[in-house]
Amino acid sequence: MNEYILEIQNLTKEFPGVRALDKVNLKVKKGEIHSLCGENGAGKSTLMSVISGVYPKGSYEGKVFYKGHETHYHSVKDSEKGGLAIIHQELALSPYLSIYENIFLGHMKTRFGIINWDTYIRESKKYLDQVGLKENPSTVVSKMGVGKQQLVEIARALSKKVELLILDEPTSSLNDDESEKLLELILELKKQGITSIMISHKLNEVLKIADTVTILRDGKSISAYDVKEQKLTESMIIRDMVGRDLTARFPERETVPGDVIMEVKDWTVFHPDYHAIKVVDKASFNLRRGEILAFCGPMGAGRTELMMSLYGRSYGSRAEGELYLKGKMAETGSTKAALAAGLGYVSEDRKNLGLILIQDVKSNISISSLKKLSRLGVVSAQQEITEAEKYRKELRIKTPSVNQMTRNLSGGNQQKVVLSRCLLADPEIFIVDEPTRGIDVGAKSEIYGILNDLVAMGKSVIMVTSELPEAIGMADRIYVMNEGRIKGMLMKEEATQEKIMHIALVN
Ligand SMILES: Nc1ncnc2c1ncn2[C@@H]1O[C@H](COP(=O)(O)OP(=O)(O)OP(=O)(O)O)[C@@H](O)[C@H]1O
Ligand SMILES: [Mg+2]
Repeated sequence: MNEYILEIQNLTKEFPGVRALDKVNLKVKKGEIHSLCGENGAGKSTLMSVISGVYPKGSYEGKVFYKGHETHYHSVKDSEKGGLAIIHQELALSPYLSIYENIFLGHMKTRFGIINWDTYIRESKKYLDQVGLKENPSTVVSKMGVGKQQLVEIARALSKKVELLILDEPTSSLNDDESEKLLELILELKKQGITSIMISHKLNEVLKIADTVTILRDGKSISAYDVKEQKLTESMIIRDMVGRDLTARFPERETVPGDVIMEVKDWTVFHPDYHAIKVVDKASFNLRRGEILAFCGPMGAGRTELMMSLYGRSYGSRAEGELYLKGKMAETGSTKAALAAGLGYVSEDRKNLGLILIQDVKSNISISSLKKLSRLGVVSAQQEITEAEKYRKELRIKTPSVNQMTRNLSGGNQQKVVLSRCLLADPEIFIVDEPTRGIDVGAKSEIYGILNDLVAMGKSVIMVTSELPEAIGMADRIYVMNEGRIKGMLMKEEATQEKIMHIALVN
């Protein structure tokens, strides 16, 4: 019996103008947890799409062996038959269907053309138990958070008798608690003999659960390590990912915050559907010129809702409270008014709120600044390209050209496009929501550098983040929210992860 469940030899995959994979080799042992690391655009997701048949045989060169046989998949359906399941970077459930429908969608058996729903509801309970999800199988998926949706995807994979489970950045949208549970589940599945491949930018998680780590750089497989035997460390992974040692994760900043530029008093936001429910309850805070504020708190604390409400009432049925900008009462009742008042917002949800995926990179960057790029009401195509090019270089957005369709960029590079748009709009106050989600370690410190440059120029930044080290490493002050309320504030000097968590959960 072959000890490898998956073996890839000299795999090359090209897109117009891009060699995404260049003679990649990969060996995954049966029953292990194998992690795949690499910078944004290194080719991780593409490799998984080849393995699972998203890109059919003939669209790539090289060989893929699964369970000892060379694969000739024409579609994902073929790979599923062999026990392969992939959970993509962007979740793929049908939001308006129930849990059990999502689990069995596309592989239900009929008897004389009739589907026995009761059987499926019962069956689905078994899989929900296995992944530890305590929900009624009839619950509509969109009513649950991402963490739970993730578990439904895994339950769906289990229902198809998965042998090799591929998870593409499974914890990027999860909070610490949910991530922990998911990692435990992957370890549990390993005990049951299921092999997993996990792509992740969170190197601590990789080292926690992986048996083997393969590192890709620029479409090439650079190295593979046995985590225990070779005593793999985060810096070893980083070195192979970026091809050099990374010095400081959080670049130094010298600036001292100035006067208060923004003041929010008793801001209350009401739920968009249930108008009596307060999603944010009397939040008060202030922001100084040249300051970076972080907003921390568990998922559902109301951080994003608060910021979106301040930014042109983009969330909620209505809002109450006062907003002062430079000492004057300000009106930001629409996103247009918010932009005009000097606010900029980078959404955490790049797929639904941030990007127009079917448009090219340059239009996505310029969309909030068309006025600036126009003369006599006509947008200058040349200037649009020049500006987009500037950000492509500065943020190292990996794309053959700014005319590339945004959909074709890797997840992390799409995130950089959203950030570029806000930079070009050049607001005085940047509100960035999870600015480094799905971003590799190297690019992360570049983004931190950019935020530091902004405050050095006298701008101010509000950062909503679930990564506590990021909050502590970057912010001058940290506001902690939970259940719609601001529970407390910590100065940079006194902030620790424990204190932040304590403020969120106690009192
Ligand atoms: N459909 C496509 N058309 C054109 N180029 C593509 C397409 N899909 C991926 N690419 C390019 O292939 C390269 C590898 O992309 P891939 O999505 O595999 O990266 P990744 O390692 O998953 O990155 P990330 O960490 O940001 O998710 C990138 O340069 C990307 O722009
Ligand atoms: Mg990817």
